[in-house]
Parts: sequence; structure tokens; C-alpha cells
Amino acid sequence: MTERIVTMLSAEQIKCRVNELGAQIAAEYKDRNLVLVVVLKGSFVFAADLCRAIDSHLRIDFLGVRSYGEGTESSGVVQIIQDLSRPIAGEDVIIVEDIVDTGLTIAHLMDLFRTRNPKSVKVCSLLYKPARARVAVNVDFVGFTIEDKFVVGYGLDFAEKYRNLPYIGVVERT
Ligand code: IMP
Ligand code: MG
Repeated sequence: MTERIVTMLSAEQIKCRVNELGAQIAAEYKDRNLVLVVVLKGSFVFAADLCRAIDSHLRIDFLGVRSYGEGTESSGVVQIIQDLSRPIAGEDVIIVEDIVDTGLTIAHLMDLFRTRNPKSVKVCSLLYKPARARVAVNVDFVGFTIEDKFVVGYGLDFAEKYRNLPYIGVVERT
């Protein structure tokens, strides 16, 4: 069985949208205490481009979570494998996600962060798959709303493969 990646979003399309999101965030968070919380590992590529598109002061922190095994189905269990390096009390947090699928990860992180008394918490996700939602979550900044396909590239993986693709595509097995 061989795998082939069919492009869904080109590097150029992603770049353009990420720059728009950055400008929108910079305008909204001007003169505030912005912290980008990057959800590892999937969001590292998006976050690296997004932070450079935000022309305003911010700090970056990382949160390691695991919600999938080696497959493509959410286990529904969100495990924190690396916590933030500093408190977020009184700060304006944006959780940076690669994709909101069932919404379970974001719902869990919102609950967790609210116990730490930040001034505000919003969510910025490059991709949003509304068809798969299992809990209601509010995604404040969305890059692209996509159909129900398992996608890889630009940080997203299939069993740890394909994170380094510069575009986003769908895995096809032939
Ligand atoms: P959720 O908890 O189901 O919303 O999914 C959260 C995480 O599952 C994302 O941050 C991704 O890491 C992973 N995920 C969900 N859908 C996909 C996909 O289509 N491709 C790769 N990873 C995915
Ligand atoms: Mg993720």
C-alpha cells in the first residue's frame, strides 16, 4: 500500500491567510499582555509563522498535549505532557492550535486555563473541521474551515509523518 498526498491548501494560500490572522490579532491585542500558548506538537509550524505576522509585543509559551495515539481517531483523553513554563495570571492568552476537530482538546484546555486566572483566553486555530465537533467550542480566529478529511503537513502528522510538508494535504492510500 502506498500513500499519496493530495494538496488541499498550498504554501502560498497558507502564507496569505496567516498574514491576515496576524494583522487581525495585532490590531486587537495592541498594548495588551499577549501570550501565545502553542499547543505541541502540531502547532509549531503555524505558530512560528503566525508570531512573525503579529507586529506587536507578545510572549510565547508551549504546552505539550497528547490526544491521539498512532491512529487518526481522537481518544477523547487529553494528556498534558509538558506544562507552561510560567503562570498566565492577568495575561491575555491566545491558544494556538493546528486544528480543532472534535473540540475535546480545546474544551479541556479552556477549562484548565480558566483555573489559572488569565485576563482573557481566546483560541486561534489554523484549521477548523465543524463536521466532527463533539463539544461546542468557540474558535475566535480561524484560518480555514475544512471538510471532514484527515489532513497532514504544515505541522500536522499522520503517525508522526508529514509534519515537514510546506503545504496541507489529504492522505490517499492506493
Ligand atoms: P480534537 O481534540 O479532536 O479537536 O483534535 C485535536 C488534535 O487532534 C489536533 O490538535 C491535532 O493534533 C489532531 N488532529 C485532529 N484532526 C487531525 C487531522 O486531520 N490531521 C492531523 N491531526 C489531526
Ligand atoms: Mg494539535
